[in-house]
Amino acid sequence: MRRSVRKFASAQVEDDTIRKVLEAARLAPSWRNQQCWKFVVVNQSEMIKKVVEHTGIYNRAWLGKAPVLIIACGDPAASGSGNGQPYYMVDVAIATEHLVLAATELGLGTCWIGAFDADEIKSMLEIPNHIEIVTIIPLGYPHRKDSLAGKMAKAVVRSHTRKPIDEIFFYNKWK
Ligand SMILES: Cc1cc2nc3c(=O)[nH]c(=O)nc-3n(C[C@H](O)[C@H](O)[C@H](O)COP(=O)(O)O)c2cc1C
Repeated sequence: MRRSVRKFASAQVEDDTIRKVLEAARLAPSWRNQQCWKFVVVNQSEMIKKVVEHTGIYNRAWLGKAPVLIIACGDPAASGSGNGQPYYMVDVAIATEHLVLAATELGLGTCWIGAFDADEIKSMLEIPNHIEIVTIIPLGYPHRKDSLAGKMAKAVVRSHTRKPIDEIFFYNKWK
């Protein structure tokens, strides 16, 4: 079962495994099949540290220990919009969750990261201005135990708790 993982073993993630999770993302559905996504795979430890410096403060201590960061990006112009909504966020989110679920199947841990300074990271990784970063996904083999920093982050975001099922759906009409 997928859960956010915030402590990683030191083992590297093999290139072949990275390609497998990217393949799962590649097969995702998208608005008019535009496939507006691109993923920057950061696997050099110095680069990882620099990226992590521009993430939310409660992410930094544990995120810097991930062996890989996947920067999930979208091109708003390549996606389009429907009902006045830009769809690149939806497209990239679906593809990213495909990647996350494939990673889980392969025994890898991940965590969606939404707290980061997109402009700083874009300039560091030479991501063009017209591209948006939607999320950052750390990828690595989970450590047996959560780190203290990971536990603190989990407390901030109230990880794992869920609303009861009867609170999230209606039959036929909203009531
Ligand atoms: C868009 C998005 C942004 C998130 N940003 C962060 C983040 O910056 N740091 C973090 O530790 N977790 C982050 N999370 C993870 C959520 O806190 C987590 O998925 C939620 O608490 C449920 O826990 P679970 O993933 O373990 O089931 C984010 C999740 C989503 C979907």
